[in-house]
This record gives sequence, C-alpha cells and structure tokens, in this order.
Amino acid sequence: MTPDADAERHAPADALEPPTPRIPCAILGATGLVGQVFAARLANHPWFELAGLVASERRNGTLYEDAVDWRLPEDLPQEAATMPLESFDSFRLAERGIRTIFSAIPKPLAVSVEAELRTQGFRVFSNAGAHRRDPDVPILIPEANAAHLAWIERQGYPERGFIVTNANCTTTGLALALAPLLPFSIRNVTVATYQALSGAGAAGLERLETMDTAIPHIPGEEEKVAWESKKILDAEFAVSATCVRVPVAFGHLESVWVDFDTDPGESAIRDAWAALSPPAAGLPSLAKPAILYDESDDAPRHDQAFDPESRGMTVRIGRLERDSTQPNRYRFVLLVNNVVRGAAGGSIANAEWFRAKYRVED
Ligand SMILES: NC(=O)c1ccc[n+]([C@@H]2O[C@H](COP(=O)([O-])OP(=O)(O)OC[C@H]3O[C@@H](n4cnc5c(N)ncnc54)[C@H](OP(=O)(O)O)[C@@H]3O)[C@@H](O)[C@H]2O)c1
Repeated sequence: MTPDADAERHAPADALEPPTPRIPCAILGATGLVGQVFAARLANHPWFELAGLVASERRNGTLYEDAVDWRLPEDLPQEAATMPLESFDSFRLAERGIRTIFSAIPKPLAVSVEAELRTQGFRVFSNAGAHRRDPDVPILIPEANAAHLAWIERQGYPERGFIVTNANCTTTGLALALAPLLPFSIRNVTVATYQALSGAGAAGLERLETMDTAIPHIPGEEEKVAWESKKILDAEFAVSATCVRVPVAFGHLESVWVDFDTDPGESAIRDAWAALSPPAAGLPSLAKPAILYDESDDAPRHDQAFDPESRGMTVRIGRLERDSTQPNRYRFVLLVNNVVRGAAGGSIANAEWFRAKYRVED
C-alpha cells in the first residue's frame, strides 16, 4: 500500500457527514442490468440524489417502471419507479445542476459520450471499458488502489471534469483478493472462471431459459483480466485467465492459483483478507467486509451473489489450501457479484471515495 493510501485509510469519520442537500446525479443506461443496480442503490442513498435517468432515444418520456424489464432479486425502488426516462443531452443535465454521472452504457457509445461529458466538466464514474486503457484514467477499487484516485488531477481536476472507471466484473473480484496478498510477493496468478449470463447484460440474461451448457469463450475477457489486474495492482507478475460462461443468472466464480516467492502460510493469507478495509471510515457502500472467508466445503456458490448482509458488495472466498503441485502455491475459490461489486456498486463506492477524499458537497 502506498503512503498516500495509508494516510487516507485513517481519514476522520467526522468529515463524512451526509451533504445537505444530497449531491444530484444521473444514470446513463438506466434500463440495463447495471443501470438497474444503480437505480436500486442510488434511490435513498445518503449522499446522492437520483436526479436523471437516461436511456436510448426510444424511451424518451416513458416512466422508468413502464420501460424497465426489472431483473434484480430486490425491489424496484419507488423513488426511481415514477421518474421519466430521458435521452442523452449533456446541456440539459448541466442546467439542472447535475455534475455526477454514473455510466452504464455500451462501450462503443461510451467512447465519445464519456469524453464529451469530461470535457464539459462532469465527473464520470463509468462501468464501460471505453477509457480503462487511458493512462490518466484510473481503474479504481477503493480498498485495492485508493491512491489511484489522484490520477484525476492529471486529467485536470478540479478545473476540469474527469473519468474514473471500475474494472471488468471478473477483474474486480480477482484484484480484491490479490491486493492484500501483494506484501507476500506474488510471482504468478492463474485463474479459471465460471461467469454468469448477466455479465453479458440484459441480452445475456435472456439466454437463461435456453442455455444448458458452458461456453469456454468470452470474447476479450481473458486479456482484460490480465492487463486490468496489472494496472490496478501496479503488478509485475503475470496473470493467466481462462473465462467460461455458465448458465446461472448472477455472480462470477473464480478458481485462483497463486504462486508466491516464499510460503506465506495459510493463516497469514486469511488474516490479510480479513484486514482489507475501505480507505476512509464512513463510506456508505463499503461498510461491510470487503472479503468474507467462508469455511464451508461447498462455498462460495453463485446463489450467494446477493447476500443480504452486503447486498452483493462482499467478495466471498473459500477453499483456501496449499497446492502441492508447486512450491509456495496456494489455491482458492472466490465469488464476486458481477452487477453489484463488479459494476454499479463498485462505481458508487468510487464516487463515495472521491467525495470523501476531495470533500465535495455538490
Ligand atoms: N453486466 C455486467 O456484469 C457488467 C459488469 C461490468 C461492466 N459492465 C459494463 O456496463 C455497461 C452496461 O452493461 P449492462 O450489462 O447493463 O448492459 P445492458 O443490459 O445491455 O444495458 C445497456 C444500457 O445502455 C442503454 N443504451 C444502449 N444504447 C443506447 C443509446 N444509443 N443511447 C443511450 N442509451 C443506450 C440501454 O438503454 P435502452 O434500454 O433504452 O436500450 C441500456 O440502458 C457496459 O459497458 C458493460 O460492458 C457490465
């Protein structure tokens, strides 16, 4: 952990009172799966006020509850249900005093839309892969690389707007599991995934009724897991991923093998996971443990993706054991909720960390 992140980890809780009034925000791609999680988490959020729901042109003026095909295992919140959808118009959003944007639009669209928003001074918290490779754009996970938030200053903040992305959903779970293990000197990481259909959006989830096989190819995913992990963790080690789509609705399981330079011991690994914590006290979405170690033989499982305690923000890990096929090799299995921790919930946590670090009230 960098000294900057370490200092922020102890930011005083009294600096994190809710803003009055709450900070207005808008969701781009509000009808999609990730957009639904944004709506569910931003309605009644203590810091943010849902002030705009944006989807494609054809939805213009339709009430959210009439347009959305609600697919989450939690209720559509009333605060969002009766809001009208609008098509994208950055000037109209700015006129209403909205500066905070949560983006859940397809990557090809995000390339220009998010760049335009940044140019106009908006703060963009994005799920799309469009700008993750930009050197000044952080792929932020508050517990893993809090100090990377400062890269927004290289984009020109506070005089200008910025884009902060979160990682691909699979990478998010892996990076959270690996971040606390960095002090043990990681040499190599191998991961095999079992990814839910919702990872491919609303269209992917449609296939739940008809797909009775696993598909050992998710275009571009394996490369993303490898390079994003290295960018997030400032890592030198190699990451080799095999990504498989499986016919479940939510949650990505990942079998992980980690080779260390020396043997850290099982209990030290578990202690490191237990100690992983948010960079500041009082971030509303990060109150629960980032990582929960589950002792059960059959955990973690996909049906634990929406755990009631953290509503999908906690990464569950189980089955940690020494792998005797190589010296200093351990293996474990993790579960990350792809649409919550790996997408909208992660973005909201990023916005909370931004507000806490820069003491923003609008
Ligand atoms: N699903 C995941 O697990 C996951 C995880 C991490 C990141 N992501 C990323 O998050 C983004 C959204 O993913 P998703 O799974 O929510 O996709 P999705 O279910 O397909 O939703 C796409 C959203 O984008 C909107 N949209 C499409 N074309 C548009 C246009 N021309 N103008 C305005 N809005 C438009 C759609 O609105 P309409 O309903 O009006 O068409 C819908 O609200 C993608 O970039 C994806 O790669 C997804």
